[in-house]
Amino acid sequence: MGTKGRAIVGMDVVELINLLNKAFADEWSAYYQYWVGAQIVKGPMREVAVAELTEHAADELRHAQMLSDRIIQLGGTPLTDPVEWGKMATCAYLKPTDFSVRAIIKQGVNGEQCAIDVYTRLLAKTKDKDPITYQMLIPILADEVDHEEDFEALLEDLAEIEMGR
Ligand SMILES: [Fe+2]
Ligand SMILES: [Fe+2]
Repeated sequence: MGTKGRAIVGMDVVELINLLNKAFADEWSAYYQYWVGAQIVKGPMREVAVAELTEHAADELRHAQMLSDRIIQLGGTPLTDPVEWGKMATCAYLKPTDFSVRAIIKQGVNGEQCAIDVYTRLLAKTKDKDPITYQMLIPILADEVDHEEDFEALLEDLAEIEMGR
C-alpha cells in the first residue's frame, strides 16, 4: 500500500475498496457467464457467438485484473473466495438455461447494461475524489459499451437470418 497514494484519495478508502470489490465480483461473474456460454451455445451463428463470448470473457478477466491491482494499491484485498462473488455482485449471474444463441446473447446484453450502470455510478462517485480510479474506470466503461453494441448487433443479424427463412 502506498501511504501517500492512499492519503490523496478524497473519499472513504474502505468504502472505495468495497465498491471496487463489488465491481470485481461482477467481472468474475461476467467472465464465467461468457466463458461457459461459449462452451454450450447452440444453433445458427454459433461460431460468431462463440467468438464474441470468448473475446468478451477475456476483456472481463482483464477488467478483474485492473480492479484487483487498484484494490491492492489502495491497501485492500481482492475477494479471496468465489463464494463471495454471488454475494457481492451487483449484476446477477444469469445462469444459462436456454442454450440458443439468442438466449445466451440476450443474457449478455442484460449483463452489459448492468455493468454500464455500475461503472457510470462508480465514475460519478470517484469524480474529483480519486483521479487514479476514475481514469482506470473510463476504459472499462468504454469496453462495456462496446460489448453491449457487439451483442445487440449479433442479435440484429440473427433476427435478419431468421426473417429470411
Ligand atoms: Fe467488464
Ligand atoms: Fe462487458
